[in-house]
Amino acid sequence: MELYNLKQPEERVNFAEAVKRGLGQDQGLFFPAAIPRLALDESFWQASFLERAEQVLGALLAEELGQENVSALVRDAFHFPLPLVPASAKQYALELFHGPTLAFKDFGARFLARTLSLVARDTPMTILTATSGDTGAAVADAFFGLPNIRVVVLYPDGGISELQEKLFCTLGENIHTVAVDGSFDDCQAMVKAAFSDSALKAEYGLTSANSINIARLLAQTVYYFEALAQLPEAEREQAVFAVPSGNFGNLTAGLLAKAMGAPIKRFIAATNSNDTVPRYLQSGEWVPGPVHATLSNAMDVTSPNNWPRVEALFAREGWPLAALGAERVSEPETEARLQAMYAEGYLSEPHAAVASEALVRQLAENEVGVFLGTAHPAKFQSAVEQVLSIDLPLPQPLAAVQDKPILSERLPADAAALKALLKARL
Ligand SMILES: Cc1ncc(COP(=O)(O)O)c(C=O)c1O
Repeated sequence: MELYNLKQPEERVNFAEAVKRGLGQDQGLFFPAAIPRLALDESFWQASFLERAEQVLGALLAEELGQENVSALVRDAFHFPLPLVPASAKQYALELFHGPTLAFKDFGARFLARTLSLVARDTPMTILTATSGDTGAAVADAFFGLPNIRVVVLYPDGGISELQEKLFCTLGENIHTVAVDGSFDDCQAMVKAAFSDSALKAEYGLTSANSINIARLLAQTVYYFEALAQLPEAEREQAVFAVPSGNFGNLTAGLLAKAMGAPIKRFIAATNSNDTVPRYLQSGEWVPGPVHATLSNAMDVTSPNNWPRVEALFAREGWPLAALGAERVSEPETEARLQAMYAEGYLSEPHAAVASEALVRQLAENEVGVFLGTAHPAKFQSAVEQVLSIDLPLPQPLAAVQDKPILSERLPADAAALKALLKARL
């Protein structure tokens, strides 16, 4: 598969190279030069999830990696269920949180870890990544104990839930975690600065596991096809997907699926009050304001990394940007939606509630809504308990870590401090 750098289109690499490098020159994002279209016949929809995922990722990657390797990656990475569950009137939740760290990030991180071990072979590598919550856990779990791979995860100190922190900051061994005195955007800026230091990059074999890494996004395309396959056939062509968005990786993956032929009617990008994109789509002006702390904290992002990919895809496919729905959902509205769904018998959490609210506002009479359930409600235990006035038992992966000590180091939001830490620890 050929990819090009969105900032410097003359830089072209194959998939293996794009995965290893993470970002291109001038911190440009890699993007597929061509997107294959799938033949979506009856047998495609009747196949099992794994068979379908093998076909989707095979269409993208088999030419370079071989279908056998792609199939092995898929079967090893995606070994958990992803049910489409009726959640509210005319709304389904695609539950992406039944993997080992209870979040949709398990799809991308597990596929990336296995892809990297395939393409990097014996070269030592350092995964450097910033997380607003769930990426850290998914990446740490996916890479924990892998030989030749070290992981450094930055996160905003106090900006993620205590249980999220416990999931990935208690592992040790090849997993180094760093609590940064700043916001998620500060963490992203530190990671970007490290990647633009070519000496540092080469010395430690730095690569990224953020959704800037194209392997993660390709992996995430599979579950959009899966949602459609699980919908009643009569509703398949009427599906509107609401995507709870922070860095816009999930939305990019959905758009890629649509470009590959997934019959998705339209998308709604749902944000919390960190609403750079909804404002941009209305005014045409890109004005990332200060970061607001919200209940859906993994979406507290005002400079979403993946936005250039979204725009590139709309331009390439000839879709008008105005066709992308967008909604900003406030804190009281998020709480009210969580309560409304609970009253209808569905237990959710704030990120998914933001997306569900966007569907309530935008769904037309003949449409059916699918919102992505991006995290298990128990990952946001205290918020969910408080909003719904309930006690939420912890599922096994969280109960197992709740009493373990946090092993993170603290750092100021400063690129030089990160450089010093890499030198000291690796
Ligand atoms: C639970 C949850 N929902 C939604 C998102 C937003 O996804 P994206 O950054 O791909 O827009 C994240 C990202 O960290 C998340 O952890």
